[in-house]
Amino acid sequence: MLSNVRNLSKSNAQFQRAVKRLPLGVSSTFRYWGDDRTIYVESGKGGRIRDIDGNSYVDYRLGYGPAILGYADDRVDAAARKGMEVGGVFALSTTRELDVADRMAKMVPSIDLVRFSNSGTEAVMAALRLARAHTGREGYVLVEGSYHGLFDAAMWMTDLADWDPKSGRDPDTVPYSRGIPAGLKSLVHLTPMNDPQRLEDLFKANGDTIAAMLIEPIQGNTCAISAKAEFVHLARDLCDRHGALLIIDEVKTGFRVAKGGVQSLIGVRPDISTFAKAMANGYPIAAVAGREEVMRTFRYGGAAHGGTYTAHAVSLAAADKCLEILDETPALETLAAYGERLKAGIKAILDRRGIVHSFSGHSSMFGLFFADQPPDNYRDWKLSDYTFYDKMALHLHDLGVIVEPDSREPWFMCEAHDQSCFDDTLKAIEAAVDFTLEDMAGEKRA
Ligand SMILES: Cc1ncc(COP(=O)(O)O)c(C=O)c1O
Repeated sequence: MLSNVRNLSKSNAQFQRAVKRLPLGVSSTFRYWGDDRTIYVESGKGGRIRDIDGNSYVDYRLGYGPAILGYADDRVDAAARKGMEVGGVFALSTTRELDVADRMAKMVPSIDLVRFSNSGTEAVMAALRLARAHTGREGYVLVEGSYHGLFDAAMWMTDLADWDPKSGRDPDTVPYSRGIPAGLKSLVHLTPMNDPQRLEDLFKANGDTIAAMLIEPIQGNTCAISAKAEFVHLARDLCDRHGALLIIDEVKTGFRVAKGGVQSLIGVRPDISTFAKAMANGYPIAAVAGREEVMRTFRYGGAAHGGTYTAHAVSLAAADKCLEILDETPALETLAAYGERLKAGIKAILDRRGIVHSFSGHSSMFGLFFADQPPDNYRDWKLSDYTFYDKMALHLHDLGVIVEPDSREPWFMCEAHDQSCFDDTLKAIEAAVDFTLEDMAGEKRA
């Protein structure tokens, strides 16, 4: 049963028009939620968005994380407007690049040098190329369940759909899209999160061909599954012993879970880090940053890096202001405290109904599970029951709360989530949980 309190007639009509010109009616496949449930946004402000039918939602997707201060933040937008006066892009440098790089280096101790990119994908692609150029090797390690963007080398995953956990064999490594050259497969090594023995074995067998290990210590696209600190320290140690580089992908965690990123919470120093989302509150900018000796491989005759739009004056001005706020105000504490309160509120609702659940990740980006422990790695997620979540998410949309319909995407907090967002969210969750329980009971009876 759907709670069905929303009118989507304008979004539905827009979809019918859009699909004639835009594949699936959208500009990113993940924005398509079905012919009659794909919504088109009119505007966003603070912790809320409004669709073209006039429905208002408290938003915990936040564009997959960027709106760290909230949509249309007046302080960042004013800075971006000033950035427009600079004149766009020149295929030349401006002085603000150094200001932003200095701020990043102040906030994240592993950063000596910085290069800007436009998106997370571009930054991670550059980081991997840099590692290969620096080491002269081509192989690389990815952790199962990670997501590093839409470029061919990163688009390999463990095939859980066709895997029988009782078979005693590992899942296959498959590309997660058609169009990925099969020849790349020989370069990628996928390893389960939090399995030290497997990681040691992998390096023992392949260490001399591995350029880098890429890891998201909180998996931003897989339930916020989190690496144990010992696992990341082991990765650091194995990279050192085998002459490989450690790349920490902080595209989602950077300037969100702490000023110094997830690496500062774990106390590990990667050779290279990548940042994007929270850097500029939604303006397109990203960065690859790290240890001086490695970063200086970006040079003529070394690793190529650049691009027409890198360090665009508007995004750079937004990053300058956004990072200043994140560095000099308690914004991150505020949004993490909201996340803590929200988790406590959800827990109370679920406990009252005797529904077993747990949370993963960090208060600023957390996953919700209907099991007593969150999964420790991607294979465990396959074994968990996510039907309750999948149903509840659709009810939440109808009731004015946006979360990702796929249970693998965490909920993101922003500084602008306020008491009214909080109250509306808990009211909606309580109703959505009851609707979901009715659905499940109905299915059992049928
Ligand atoms: C950890 C991580 N790396 C890379 C990317 C790719 O970033 P973008 O979508 O900006 O290309 C993402 C996107 O969600 C991400 O979560």
